[in-house]
Amino acid sequence: MSLHPTRNTLPEDIRRQSIGLLGQSLITAIDLQRQAKQAHWNVQGPQFIALHLLFDEVHSAAVEWADLSAERLVALGGTADGRIQQVAGQSPLPPYPLELRDGKDHVRQLADALAKYGQQVHQAIIATADVGDPTSSDLFTEISRGVDEHLWKVDAHHYG
Ligand SMILES: [Fe+2]
Repeated sequence: MSLHPTRNTLPEDIRRQSIGLLGQSLITAIDLQRQAKQAHWNVQGPQFIALHLLFDEVHSAAVEWADLSAERLVALGGTADGRIQQVAGQSPLPPYPLELRDGKDHVRQLADALAKYGQQVHQAIIATADVGDPTSSDLFTEISRGVDEHLWKVDAHHYG
């Protein structure tokens, strides 16, 4: 993959590694957006309104996580690839089950997806710091704080 010119002084080999990790984060964050909307639209049950609103909060947060990842990646000389075909082929998340209705099932499914993204981002915090890009590591730390917060809010429904 060729990089476009930038005055960023970070060495190219470091930028390439960060661009790879940021690109993976972009893919998962876009899938997470779609999964949160699946939950937002299809949830039913006694906690409908609380979960309906909470799942939309997760969607908005995931839009921001994708944006942060994409824009830093481009700042480092990369090309953001958030095309739906790319996301469908590359996302590490399992497809969101279409048959879910109950709040507890959506809570479990979305909490699993958030936890998986959280794990990916946590690994990226360490990897980008190790290769010598503390700025990307800081960005992943910011995302990680948000993912953990939303995982807590979804998981707090204690459906197990
Ligand atoms: Fe809505």
